[in-house]
Amino acid sequence: MDKRPERRTTPKGPGAGRGRRGRIAVALLAALAVTSCTGGVNGTPGASGTRDPLFPRLGNDGYDVQHYGLDLAYDPATGTLSGGATIVARATKDLSAFDLDFAGMDVRDATVDDEPAAVNRAGDELTLRPQEDLGRGETFTAYVRYSGRPRTITDSDGSKEGWLTSPGGGVLALGEPTGSMAWFPSNNHPSDKATYDIKVTVPDGLRVVSNGELTSTVHNGGRTAFSWRTKEPMATYLAMLAIGPYEIDDKGTTKSGIPVYTAVDPAAKERTAQVVAQLPDILAWEEEKFGSYPFSSTGVVVAPAKSAGYALETQNRPVMPLDQFDLSTLVHELAHQWFGDSVTPAAWRDMWLNEGFAQYAEWLWSEDHGGMSAQEHFDTEYAKDDGDEIWAFPPAAPPTAADVSGRPVYVRGAMAVHKVREAVGDEKFFALVQDWLRAHRHANASTKDFTRFVDGEAGHRLTQVWNTWLYGDGKPDSP
Ligand code: TRP
Ligand code: ZN
Repeated sequence: MDKRPERRTTPKGPGAGRGRRGRIAVALLAALAVTSCTGGVNGTPGASGTRDPLFPRLGNDGYDVQHYGLDLAYDPATGTLSGGATIVARATKDLSAFDLDFAGMDVRDATVDDEPAAVNRAGDELTLRPQEDLGRGETFTAYVRYSGRPRTITDSDGSKEGWLTSPGGGVLALGEPTGSMAWFPSNNHPSDKATYDIKVTVPDGLRVVSNGELTSTVHNGGRTAFSWRTKEPMATYLAMLAIGPYEIDDKGTTKSGIPVYTAVDPAAKERTAQVVAQLPDILAWEEEKFGSYPFSSTGVVVAPAKSAGYALETQNRPVMPLDQFDLSTLVHELAHQWFGDSVTPAAWRDMWLNEGFAQYAEWLWSEDHGGMSAQEHFDTEYAKDDGDEIWAFPPAAPPTAADVSGRPVYVRGAMAVHKVREAVGDEKFFALVQDWLRAHRHANASTKDFTRFVDGEAGHRLTQVWNTWLYGDGKPDSP
């Protein structure tokens, strides 16, 4: 779609303030003159999506974000969030304009490299047009100043994400798959990971918990600013804010020396303390299975009951509402730190690489802790009849955006992992899983990357496994 920014600042420079025809004319003039005051760059607008087959409007084309710096203030009395987002990115083509994904909120103004940029809003797309075109390879800094009451987004499967408020002034900001655009403008696609500085100021009495490490807490005039830093690359859908009267425990470390920061809603404390205390043991077991923990801190946020309808593997510390909290789910969300957070899907259809492995981690935990073996879990699932929802579609090819969180992605995804284990044997399987995680650590991977990787390590192609368990329709004829 061709978007024409409505102008809020005075345009300067060639190409600015013109429609497409104007820009073409300027491009011709510039070509004739050989040089122009943009340094010879005549860019085109970046596309407003990344061609994700399931979410074509998510993410944007033409740049690669390196860092997000958010400086926000939240007023629970009015529900207003205000502040700014600094986005450091590298242009991947010559750009005359580029899009960010941003839903709701009022954009006050924006700059690119400290010069005013033209701003346009159309649906969930925020278009910035800098005064001078950006050259391919150039690193630039965009700043967007905004305020408003962030919205709750209902995603394609009907669940709620984005900005979730609970009684008493508490907030959860959660982003899978699209919700982060409710609270900051971004390149909202898992393929573009970046580091983050997230600073949020709230009235005294509330705490702000986010991803990464808390670097400072500054009290001033009845308000406190909490600054969090994420040093390892993170996908936008894993960014998180939890605001509330949380009780903090930041004294412990894992057995491998990683700092643990847990935040528990006071009303949830008694019922969850015993399982929360097992977090270092769970991580020690997962490090043994999956290799070294991929991030510089860990923990969990136990949020008020019903504050979200699901638990989520937000980076460093998952969010688990009290009514979603149990040991098996904690094992699942912590396994996602390897599967999803460190090795992130290249596109949303690759979701089974997250959920299949996180589900399989639960089966492995049970196998190692006196419960059903993974084989018994597999057999129990396979016994489900033809019409069961776990056979509704192939896990590596969810037909619609509403299906990315469907049962086949989890259960049949885990069954596919088990078939790989069966095909290569235990010793090779666990080595292969760790090699896979090392090969794509802090990066992205697709289903094709996975099948190619496994075929390579196995020394032969597992064609039958892939065709049947990842791509086949309906219940496979044999287990
Ligand atoms: N990823 C979460 C989990 O299983 C569940 C979830 C929440 C989810 N929102 C989603 C899955 C959106 C897919 C899409 O731990
Ligand atoms: Zn999961």
